[in-house]
Amino acid sequence: MSDVLALGLPSVTGEPGMPGRVDVYEVGPRDGLQAESRVVPAADKVRFVRELVAAGLGTVEATSFVSPRWVPQLADAAEVMSGLGDDLERHPVLVPNLKGLDRAVEAGARSVAVFVSATDTFARRNLGMDRDQALRTADEVVVAARALGLRVRGYVSMCFGDPWEGPVAAETVAEVSARLVQAGCAQVSLGDTIGVGTAGQVGRLVDAHASAGVGADLLALHFHDTYGQALANVHAGLLAGVTCFDSSAGGLGGCPFAGSATGNLATEDLLWMLAGLGIETGVDLPAVVAAGRRMCDLLGRPLSRVAAALT
Ligand code: COA
Ligand code: ZN
Repeated sequence: MSDVLALGLPSVTGEPGMPGRVDVYEVGPRDGLQAESRVVPAADKVRFVRELVAAGLGTVEATSFVSPRWVPQLADAAEVMSGLGDDLERHPVLVPNLKGLDRAVEAGARSVAVFVSATDTFARRNLGMDRDQALRTADEVVVAARALGLRVRGYVSMCFGDPWEGPVAAETVAEVSARLVQAGCAQVSLGDTIGVGTAGQVGRLVDAHASAGVGADLLALHFHDTYGQALANVHAGLLAGVTCFDSSAGGLGGCPFAGSATGNLATEDLLWMLAGLGIETGVDLPAVVAAGRRMCDLLGRPLSRVAAALT
């Protein structure tokens, strides 16, 4: 075992009820950078994305085609896309409305993500629309994107609690997700935008989705680590049958419109746990650590736990 640890990898012990393989959906270049006060140059963003792809991450969300007035950090979305070249299927981008979709398509996007909120207050703060209007807009964008042959992911924010509205009913979240699936989303990512979720909630939320006709195979889980619960929540998600998890290299991230949001679950922390459970991801942990460390250094941010432990 000491040899294994010396190599910078955990010892492996499987656990019953766990999947053999999991998709790690990397959101660092988008979620990780959207709330940083320092704007990262486009060339450094492109390098970050490329390093993450080289590490074996199959999907690396690249940027957002949102209003540059709302999120100036990602105003260079088209420049980042052109820097990434041809292989854009694996680089989804966020689009909040039809204008965003047009911009994304013009920049060559092949895969987009719409985002709505489970709560009304956050829909207004994040999108400038009430919850139902945001859902109608998302429907419109999904239909238009599907007509163009794009893959579409749906995000639901505030699935585990909202800083303004408090607890959020699992059934409410499931209704929103079901609507996104009906519109044509291939997958729905359930966001714990402010990181307040706890492990028992996860299975409950996945069950509520099954009752609403949205199976675990259509779900991804998106945790922020504000209260240090993200990995426990992933573990609960694995036991509930979810096999796609969002994470951010370096543990960067947050939402500029939810003040209490802190960093995403770090990709390297997630990989360490999955490797320890013997779950395949196809991702090279040291390469992710190196990419995350470079971006944390650039931004003057502390390293994630696993990156710090391996440094
Ligand atoms: N990209 C670029 N510009 C956009 C745009 C887009 N996707 N959508 C709207 N705009 C422009 C409009 O053209 C208009 O420009 P003008 O003033 O020069 O005519 C201006 O923004 C205002 O348009 P409006 O429709 O009133 O938008 P808004 O200011 O109410 O903003 C959103 C609505 C959805 C664009 C904005 O809330 C947004 O970008 N939110 C994203 C937040 C986010 O990324 N959060 C983190 C991810 S969870
Ligand atoms: Zn997030």
